[in-house]
Amino acid sequence: MQGLQVAPRRAVIIAVSVVALLIVLVHVFSDVPYDVYRNYGTGDPVGAVAPPVQVDNDKPQPGYFKAQPEWDFSVPPSAKGWAGYAKKPRNRDIVVLTASDGGGHNSAIPNVLERVLEDRQAYCDKHGYTNLWLNTSRYDIGEAHRTWSKIPAVAEAFSLNPTAEWVWLIDTDIIIMTPEFSLVDDILAPEAIKKGLMRGTPILDGQLKKNPTHINTPEDFRVEDIDILITQDHQSVNTGSTFFRRTAFTRYLLEIMTDYTMLMGRDHVGAEQDAIKHLMLEHQLVRNHVGIYPQRKFNAYVQGGDNMGYRDGDLAVHFAGCWVGGKCKLWFDEFWEKKGHTDVWRPEGQ
Ligand SMILES: *[C@@H]1O[C@H](CO)[C@@H](O)[C@H](O)[C@H]1NC(C)=O
Repeated sequence: MQGLQVAPRRAVIIAVSVVALLIVLVHVFSDVPYDVYRNYGTGDPVGAVAPPVQVDNDKPQPGYFKAQPEWDFSVPPSAKGWAGYAKKPRNRDIVVLTASDGGGHNSAIPNVLERVLEDRQAYCDKHGYTNLWLNTSRYDIGEAHRTWSKIPAVAEAFSLNPTAEWVWLIDTDIIIMTPEFSLVDDILAPEAIKKGLMRGTPILDGQLKKNPTHINTPEDFRVEDIDILITQDHQSVNTGSTFFRRTAFTRYLLEIMTDYTMLMGRDHVGAEQDAIKHLMLEHQLVRNHVGIYPQRKFNAYVQGGDNMGYRDGDLAVHFAGCWVGGKCKLWFDEFWEKKGHTDVWRPEGQ
């Protein structure tokens, strides 16, 4: 009788020990970080080879911009909710988008569109990004100011490049100064976003002293929620250089920004830039998804102190406002000469 009771007890003890040992072994030898499950959704367009982009930059679109098929660009299942994904993109998942018709104040700079497109092609070739120009005159955006047409261009860039994860929208009046700069390592990787975004920073609506908004960027955020990356100058967010991630939130924001009745068809001085600023100031949800990087990360200006003006090693320089003093050509030529420079030209602290 006694023997029969001992046997099952021993079996139970052995079984429990084996299971415990297995748990320990699994933990030690296959410790897959939680992040792997969090960040990699199945069904992402990973591994697919992008087909060549077909776009006729000479012909206007066949009708009103919002009725075009590009607004229905697809979003991977892992990015369909409010919480998207946070994986490190591959270089070929990035589109560098120049949305321009070559006109506007940039026409003061001879052949500016051809020159920057050629330069951006070289930058993209070096890293394996996709260079894309979309002629914004093709969009029928009604009576709205031309600069709004950058937004349909972003939608079209996602639609034309079905495997692209990030679209970098950059104005024509921007020169890439440091061709070695990696968009992935320094801007788009989850680690870069976690480390680089400004936390608890006032979101501006004019100069802070004159018009304090009392609204700050979140102190804490989830990297997988960050779908748009932007910078602020001394007055407001600036859309001259902005990153958009392929998620449901991005699609929704692009559509809302171009709401014709409430935003786009109205007389907003800053056009699409005012739209995103307004939505950020008004909606916590938008603040949770739009990350603000320090300005010089990807939108340094020609003039300004160490937090704003171009310094050696910065990715790009933006000639924002150059037309005010008629300085576009002068500044453009000066920086064009120095692109890729490695000498000490504009060091910090001077
Ligand atoms: C842009 O498209 C318009 C027509 O939609 C065309 O007239 C214009 O020449 C194009 N611009 C460039 C730079 O090709």
